[in-house]
Amino acid sequence: GVTRHYTLDVKMQNVTRLCHTRSIVTVNGKYPGPAIVAREGDRLLIKVTNHIPNNVSIHWHGIRQLRSGWADGPAYITQCPIQTGQSYVYNFTITGQRGTLFWHAHSSWLRATLYGPIIILPKRNASYPFTKPHKEVPIIFGEWFKSDPEAIISQALQTGGGPNVSDAYTINGLPGPLYNCSAKDTFKLMVKPGKTYLLRLVNAALNDELFFSIANHTFTIVEVDAVYVKPFDTDTLVIGPGQTSSVLLKTKPSNPRAAFFMMARPYMTGQGTFDNSTVAGVLEYAAGDGSSKQRPQFKPTLPALNDTSFVTNFSKNLRSLASNNFPANVPTKVDRQFFFTIGLGTNPCDRKNHTCQGPNGTMFAASINNVSFSMPTTALLQAHFTGQSNGVYDPNFPTRPLTRFNYTGNPPNNTMVSNGTKLVVLPFNTSVELIMQDTSILGAESHPLHLHGFNFFVVGQGFGNFNPNNDPKNFNLVDPVERNTVGVPSGGWVAIRFLADNPGVWFMHCHLEVHTSWGLKMAWLVLDGKLPNQKLLPPPADLPKC
Ligand code: C2O
Repeated sequence: GVTRHYTLDVKMQNVTRLCHTRSIVTVNGKYPGPAIVAREGDRLLIKVTNHIPNNVSIHWHGIRQLRSGWADGPAYITQCPIQTGQSYVYNFTITGQRGTLFWHAHSSWLRATLYGPIIILPKRNASYPFTKPHKEVPIIFGEWFKSDPEAIISQALQTGGGPNVSDAYTINGLPGPLYNCSAKDTFKLMVKPGKTYLLRLVNAALNDELFFSIANHTFTIVEVDAVYVKPFDTDTLVIGPGQTSSVLLKTKPSNPRAAFFMMARPYMTGQGTFDNSTVAGVLEYAAGDGSSKQRPQFKPTLPALNDTSFVTNFSKNLRSLASNNFPANVPTKVDRQFFFTIGLGTNPCDRKNHTCQGPNGTMFAASINNVSFSMPTTALLQAHFTGQSNGVYDPNFPTRPLTRFNYTGNPPNNTMVSNGTKLVVLPFNTSVELIMQDTSILGAESHPLHLHGFNFFVVGQGFGNFNPNNDPKNFNLVDPVERNTVGVPSGGWVAIRFLADNPGVWFMHCHLEVHTSWGLKMAWLVLDGKLPNQKLLPPPADLPKC
């Protein structure tokens, strides 16, 4: 591979959407931010400079960061954030991955506007295991807020209640014609007939899983989370926050002289406050002279907001390619098994500091195994590396829920969580099986759980209580999908496996940003192996200080 240099300047920029101008946080003045493009095997040196009043850090979502945990990016987990006026060079090599990922801010809610695609092309002289596309097009879903997302979340945490929802969904930063005052801010893709386009999809929305469809066209899904899958055709796809995918779009063989809407809107299983509006863009066939004359004529039909059977079927269709060139290395033996309950809960109200508009006069919280994660004030990876972890974190994250959980029984009347900064410690190369069971307490929505530093195999999923005697019999150990973010279904469970072959501290959290803010997060500490090439590299000299 080669070394590629990027310079990302985090700065404020005025942007107008929905007839409302706001100064937002951008990279290089762009919203969404620029694409990072590299080939598998390349090394990236990305200099990030902070020109805004807030602290910031950037996460390269889905990049494995083998032994380079210092470049992973989550604030207070692998690094102290970059302070105003300071820079940090993220230094990492892309190993064994190819496809679409994305980068985003990883402190507070700054990722609302601070994100962009990561495009990993095959190695030089290697080709795609599918039709070579005529053109590649990033399509990034996001959310637009009329007011400052930082103010929205800090106010919500102050009151203990739920934050205001966004005012629009966006495609490549554009809300599209179905919102007031937004017709001119519509993403348009001009295409030619009889060609194959590779759409690189990213869900960078803060808080919603989305359905996506283009009228009268079919997608062939060929990759998710930078791993090739067995191609499958679908009119509609579902993509959770933190998930990415490459899909092929074949255009009509002869020019239909028409335009087709592409649309996205949320998948949501329960009631709750969310934006149930629709973002639209346009796929338009260029006229013979290349000009744009047609008007949009066709609209896609999206599944109902709560269409869980569509979502379940869709995820069952995702299978690893599992070919000779791209094998699925599913761990067949398990060294350690964990059972995590995933869900919302409450914290007692501290009336001195909060107004407590959460459920029954409490404050919203969220937890894994009843532990709501408290953010440390120094970076966990640094504390570990320098041997100064005392008082920073506890290495005793529970392997099973503290409160016995039964999904089919009465919901527990005690929804209180405990707070702590707890980690699971794993020896190098531990083979892990993790069952994640949604509790459906207080909220009913899937939780897109994201693991840093690894891909995992989704070996099973189901509804109701996970049954340890029967369910493992149906695990797929042959071609399960391999990814970094999986939806734990509302009222159900998923089982994943991964090999802990990457030393460092690795964050795991719900990619619904509001749930992360409420504490639905934890971290794994993977120890160094014995061999020199099994150890975390030393920290770079410019690593930010807290
Ligand atoms: Cu894309 Cu820790 O997140």
